[in-house]
Amino acid sequence: MDTSEKLKEFSSKLSKVKMLPKADISEDLIDNTDIDKLVEKLVFNIGTFEGVHFVDSNEVKEAISEVNKSKIPVRVEVIKSGDFHPIAADIADNYKIETRDVEHAEGNVADFVNYFRNRIERLRKILNARPSPDGSPVERLDLLKDFIGRDVYIIGIVTSKITTKKGNIMVVMEDETADVKVIFSNNNSAIGKSLFNTASSIINDEVIAIKGKLINQFVIAKEIIWPDIPILERKSINEDLGIAFISDIHVGSKLFMENNFVSMIKWLNGNSTDKRNKELAGKVKYIVASGDIVDGIGVYPNQDRDLSLPDMYMQYKMFFDLIENIPDYIQIFVLPGNHDSVRRAEPQPALPKSLIKDYHRDNVHFVSNPSYLELNGINVLAYHGTSLDSIISAIPGMSYDKPELPMVELLKRRHLSPIYGGNVIVPSKNDNLVIDKVPDILVMGHVHKNGIARYKGVTVINDGTWQARTAFQVKFGQFPTPARMPVFEMKNYNITTVNFSGE
Ligand SMILES: [Fe+2]
Repeated sequence: MDTSEKLKEFSSKLSKVKMLPKADISEDLIDNTDIDKLVEKLVFNIGTFEGVHFVDSNEVKEAISEVNKSKIPVRVEVIKSGDFHPIAADIADNYKIETRDVEHAEGNVADFVNYFRNRIERLRKILNARPSPDGSPVERLDLLKDFIGRDVYIIGIVTSKITTKKGNIMVVMEDETADVKVIFSNNNSAIGKSLFNTASSIINDEVIAIKGKLINQFVIAKEIIWPDIPILERKSINEDLGIAFISDIHVGSKLFMENNFVSMIKWLNGNSTDKRNKELAGKVKYIVASGDIVDGIGVYPNQDRDLSLPDMYMQYKMFFDLIENIPDYIQIFVLPGNHDSVRRAEPQPALPKSLIKDYHRDNVHFVSNPSYLELNGINVLAYHGTSLDSIISAIPGMSYDKPELPMVELLKRRHLSPIYGGNVIVPSKNDNLVIDKVPDILVMGHVHKNGIARYKGVTVINDGTWQARTAFQVKFGQFPTPARMPVFEMKNYNITTVNFSGE
């Protein structure tokens, strides 16, 4: 088609939607673009207006770049270097996936009662398994009436926590039979102060044990016991393999750092010039992607302004096109997060077939959020981390700057999302967010900030993001650490955070 005809076509199609091109739009500008898609994109971008809208060249340029972005398949030019001999290609994979059962519930009163009963039962079992010099706890809270004036040891779920007029902390605990008020007095003794401070980190809906004295109808607390984890021994793994962790990729967002993500893929293909880096890349046998694969559609008000791909399917397609370039001896596990197109309530099911469409690769596994993964003997508990928001705001001393700290708090509580209502949870028959098995690695994302800790032998990793700093993060003073990928070596438990940010 002659370019002047193309401009005529553009004018005529624009006029049908009450728009006209300004004189600064040249024929060259629109030459290689599909006019229908361009007009569609302009209608989407410009939104509502009165009368006739005159489209200028900047609006056209922006729309063209978006149309072209969704049109061009991602091509990563990987230069296979002759001296890259990945050890991971020669070692057979050995993995097991244990997804969390995704049960359904109506959300009626009976469902909630059963859900919390199950939570108490499971966590009571964990608490009872801890060695206690004071014998076993009082079996049921309704039996407490026979213990007045005596020392007691109780287990229950926290239903409320308040500061009384006298400045004490009062916690109400409940089990299947009754409830009881527990007092942490704000006295000046060193022990009293320390217990009082510890009590300030008690959160709603968690299951704890208390040792104290029953005076009238109150338990005066002397000690708080969290379910916690036992000290875990380091495993000796013979294979010299690595696990790389990524999350919060947010493909489809204008802030998705595509070039940096591509650099990471090239690195996995041995394109690094540094010998140690190349060797590390060659060890990577597994990648865990812990959610927010895409930015999604309609996740928050006016999100469309922040999207480079305003189509969910295109967002996933771009992700699949990108990971297509990851060597196929690497097994990739993909969890959903709160931006992905599955139900928000946790546990979240794996990405549905409708989104994955005809995409199929033997080395890409779509799994639930959370999931347990056993990778050559290393147990990884992967969870997106949506509950980190409520934990950071509920426990004193927590911040978005150190996401590993709230992750450790979740391990102590043996629950991935203890505060009910902090984020959406399905009140199913079984509380599948209880951490019933202690993993070697606990990994989460969600807060877009890297963090690493070792807690009682468990390696705690937050794997950051591939999205640049958002307006939301600017508003709340949060500083993400994009394009940094932690790699765990299973032979020596070393963690190297490879920096692709260019900073
Ligand atoms: Fe995210």
